[in-house]
Amino acid sequence: MMKVPDYIAKLEAYVPGKPIEELEREYGISGPVKLASNENPIGPSPKAVEAIRAALKNLHRYPDGYSYHLRKKLGEKLGVANDKIVFGNGSNEIIELLVRTFIREGDWVVIPSPSFLMYEIIVQAAGGQIVKVALKDLYVDLEAMAKSVSENTRMIFVNNPNNPTGTIISRDAFDRFLEKIPPDVIVVMDEAYIDFIRDKDFVVGLDYLDSRNLVVSLRTFSKAYGLAGLRLGYGVMKKDLADFMNRVRQPFNTNTLAQIGALAALDDEVFFEKTVKMVHEELDLLFAQVSKLGLRCFPTQTNFFLIDVQRDAKEVFEGMLHKGVIVRAMNAYGYPNYIRVNVGLPEENRRFVKALKEVI
Ligand SMILES: Cc1ncc(COP(=O)(O)O)c(C=O)c1O
Repeated sequence: MMKVPDYIAKLEAYVPGKPIEELEREYGISGPVKLASNENPIGPSPKAVEAIRAALKNLHRYPDGYSYHLRKKLGEKLGVANDKIVFGNGSNEIIELLVRTFIREGDWVVIPSPSFLMYEIIVQAAGGQIVKVALKDLYVDLEAMAKSVSENTRMIFVNNPNNPTGTIISRDAFDRFLEKIPPDVIVVMDEAYIDFIRDKDFVVGLDYLDSRNLVVSLRTFSKAYGLAGLRLGYGVMKKDLADFMNRVRQPFNTNTLAQIGALAALDDEVFFEKTVKMVHEELDLLFAQVSKLGLRCFPTQTNFFLIDVQRDAKEVFEGMLHKGVIVRAMNAYGYPNYIRVNVGLPEENRRFVKALKEVI
């Protein structure tokens, strides 16, 4: 009989958005639309694709374990020292590295709830003790999170903007929060969707690298840069933290093509701006059209939003699948009547609205 720790035996695997090919296979639907994983619908940055194509001939070599060129360019762009950046196989791997490096069995980790489901899975897999703090009116409740900190707390996750609710955290609220957080507790700001924020008043993790607290900023190339399939994310933090994580990580955790693609994407301002502009324009249209169906849409600072479908979200999810549109039912997030949908291409969004109207 194999021996597996109790906290591993109790783990439930993350359920990703349904892949397009799976829907085609299972439902015999051709050309479905996927609006379930907050991806960039336009495609990958063309500059990234071109650079990757040129790099294919070097695949017999190991990657640059230091990501020299990407590190240099990103450091300049962000205005941070190169040795404060840790790269990962998606920002997911940085979450995992943070937990593997700094969390031991029994340590407490505070997370907002609902939020990105991977925080909980990764902490649980390491035997950490998750402390969930409920959102307040869909906003991360920093006051309550600060109150839930004990001497056992080693790490706090803050998602800004928060997935799945699309809400942001103001600078004032964050400053008040940090004052109450012991300086040896790591505060992870997951900023995967920061590029889509339209509101003026939001906090940016990078501004706190020199503060008394241990603030880590997580970013990704999976969203506005259109490179989710390539897997490149990073964390920016104090050098001491980065040094420990660099000892724990695998030497070649980011692959050659990901480094080269991300480097080229950083220069592709045309693509980046086109993406953000389309997301904002289409969000406004989607809000108007879904509201016309008599359904409530929740304001968002991301490329996705919640809709109260006023019935079991799973049923709506299933009904939409039959019409070739993949959305996300929020039952697993504690919102049994909400679906989450991300902005697609204009024609995909029109198809979504038509399908939603038919399903409800
Ligand atoms: C809040 C949040 N953080 C992190 C990630 C992971 O992104 P990556 O593709 O960089 O691993 C996601 C992906 O959906 C996300 O929603």
